Amino acid sequence: MDRTYKNNFTRGIVLSATLGALAFTGTYTGAFARAFEGAVQVAGRSTFSAVSSARADEVNLYSSRQPFLMKPLLAAFTEETGIKVNMVYLKKGMLERLKSEGRNSPADLILVSDIGNLHNHDKAGLLQPVTSPNLSANIPAQYRHPSGNWFGLTVRARVIYASKTRLKAGEVTTYEDLADPRMKGRVCIRSGKHVYNISLLASIVVAKGEAGATAWAKGLKANLARRPQGNDRAQVRAVFEGECDVAVGNTYYMGKMATNKKDPIQKEWAKSVRIIFPNQAGRGTHVNVSGAAVTKSAKNKTNAVRLIEFLSDDAAQKIYAEQNFEYPVKAGVALHPLVASWGRFKADKAYLSKIANKRTTATKLVDKVAFNN
Ligand SMILES: [Fe+2]
Repeated sequence: MDRTYKNNFTRGIVLSATLGALAFTGTYTGAFARAFEGAVQVAGRSTFSAVSSARADEVNLYSSRQPFLMKPLLAAFTEETGIKVNMVYLKKGMLERLKSEGRNSPADLILVSDIGNLHNHDKAGLLQPVTSPNLSANIPAQYRHPSGNWFGLTVRARVIYASKTRLKAGEVTTYEDLADPRMKGRVCIRSGKHVYNISLLASIVVAKGEAGATAWAKGLKANLARRPQGNDRAQVRAVFEGECDVAVGNTYYMGKMATNKKDPIQKEWAKSVRIIFPNQAGRGTHVNVSGAAVTKSAKNKTNAVRLIEFLSDDAAQKIYAEQNFEYPVKAGVALHPLVASWGRFKADKAYLSKIANKRTTATKLVDKVAFNN
């Protein structure tokens, strides 16, 4: 890139935030316009951070959900509606980015995993409420924000992975059992601060109060075979390798391990364990969602709502179930056969919005009991 182009490029990027809509309609001509178009194209290839326009046939998505999963879903949406989706994949840093972009953010909607991430965007004032009869019909009230600030689209259960050989049937049936002294030295779990575990702990705060949840976290810590570390799959690996007898993890990882072609040893990890859905005789198993929300800055709100509606409906729910071993949020959509093979289970009926409100309490509690130390 020579100096002249670089200067024009920079100028184009800076100005595009305010003039983007006009630039797209081709109002500008001459050298500046050419430089500007160059900037937009480059921006369009990697991100669309410089483009902040409302267009009838487009919608701009920030997604922390992976491209392999989103691609077929978004292609199906475009096929059905003619609306093009510009997706930016953000593995990390979405909240900070939306905050810094503020009202000029090009993002119309976000897709993230876990109520923790949805809740944090909401608390930061980055989302806006949506009213949609379709979303109310497709998504049970438990799995969406009461004012429509966010919507769950897929469901996952946080379950116990138990050694097939070292854990007797009936030995562990509840989350509470994991904290019982008889399980000393037998339990593995990832960091207590991870978003999945904070949500699980928040669900225990809802079920048993802060004192009950503190006692549980202390008991669980006392039973750990090793300091919290690794991701969910690493816990199952530790069971496979004999380091612990039970682990905590999300259900879809069982599917990802059992069918893993890239790293076939994961099939062995999966084979060494069975899934226990905790608390079936009581409040039910803690479940969480991946979900979507319309940003406060949305310029294409109608299209954003349309995309969320599409993702909550039969065709997309089927793709989610097939691609990622998750549970459809919409009733009546078939499970992946492997997911179905784990059996039916009762989910904790606590509203996820209520659990999300206890996340701050849960986070403090993890520090209080020095869970990760
Ligand atoms: Fe995950």
